[in-house]
Amino acid sequence: MILITGATGAVGRPLVHELARAGHKVRALTRTPATAGLPPEVEVARTEDLPLNGVTSIFMNPAVFWNGLGDLLTRAVENRVRRVVLLSSLAAAAPPNPIGAHHLEFENQIEASGLEWTFLRPGAFAANTLQWADQIRADGVVRGPYADAHTAPIDERDIAAVAAKALTTDAHIGTKPLLTGPESLTNADQARIIGETLGRPVRYEEISPEAAREAMTGGFAPAEVVDALLSMYAAAVNTPAEVLRTVEQITTNPPRTFKTWTTANISQFQQIGIATNSA
Ligand SMILES: NC(=O)c1ccc[n+]([C@@H]2O[C@H](COP(=O)([O-])OP(=O)(O)OC[C@H]3O[C@@H](n4cnc5c(N)ncnc54)[C@H](OP(=O)(O)O)[C@@H]3O)[C@@H](O)[C@H]2O)c1
Repeated sequence: MILITGATGAVGRPLVHELARAGHKVRALTRTPATAGLPPEVEVARTEDLPLNGVTSIFMNPAVFWNGLGDLLTRAVENRVRRVVLLSSLAAAAPPNPIGAHHLEFENQIEASGLEWTFLRPGAFAANTLQWADQIRADGVVRGPYADAHTAPIDERDIAAVAAKALTTDAHIGTKPLLTGPESLTNADQARIIGETLGRPVRYEEISPEAAREAMTGGFAPAEVVDALLSMYAAAVNTPAEVLRTVEQITTNPPRTFKTWTTANISQFQQIGIATNSA
């Protein structure tokens, strides 16, 4: 039995589908089982219960554990769980920074538990651009900092495909694969590509880091995380992001492009009731 935390998330949902399709027994955790929309062949349980009976491997998403892991690892050892695959972050491999430190804390605790582990360290998710969806629907202008900052956005389905390998084969035990998408793109490039898929122009209008900090603070992340994100963006201005071949090496499939990601997710950017060219 493979336990998937954050099963309705950007990585969790495609991972649940991939494992279920391959015939693995899956227990998917969510705070709202009734509305989770997970495949019928999957056992769905409540995140707060964290049932470990019969579980052999855990996919651990830090988004679910903002308050720490509690006694999860002790219980995992007691329940004879063999393996943890952690959704860590590329930031854990960068010079010391709060986002990296947050993920290293998870990594260190898991390593000390004696369980088998794999730490997936992806860079920026393509899904981060969903934060722009309201602005794109409103007037096609994304207002944000550092238009020329590069990332190599990764399609979350590729992270899920790597996670599936780490959960179901022994080839990646004790490894910390760094994962990126296949191309380095600026924020402005990503806005333009969303527009191309929508069939109407979308442009990125740069605002000052101070204005961005104000808009982001009090929102989805604590102030120190906002500052760390802004510093990472500042350092990436006009600096192409490193593009790695790890996804293809592990899954044998080339990583999906950002254009492919936008095509799969274009409905999220569309104005309700207005037909657009998403072909
Ligand atoms: N975004 C990036 O660029 C990036 C880069 C590197 C690493 N990461 C890592 O990836 C994680 C995000 O992964 P993701 O996008 O798959 O996750 P996500 O979509 O943000 O969240 C996954 C699921 O976790 C549940 N959840 C969310 N907040 C929760 C909370 N406070 N308590 C309990 N459950 C909660 C939700 O499911 P229910 O509502 O169904 O319970 C959600 O669907 C980050 O936290 C970070 O560790 C992200």
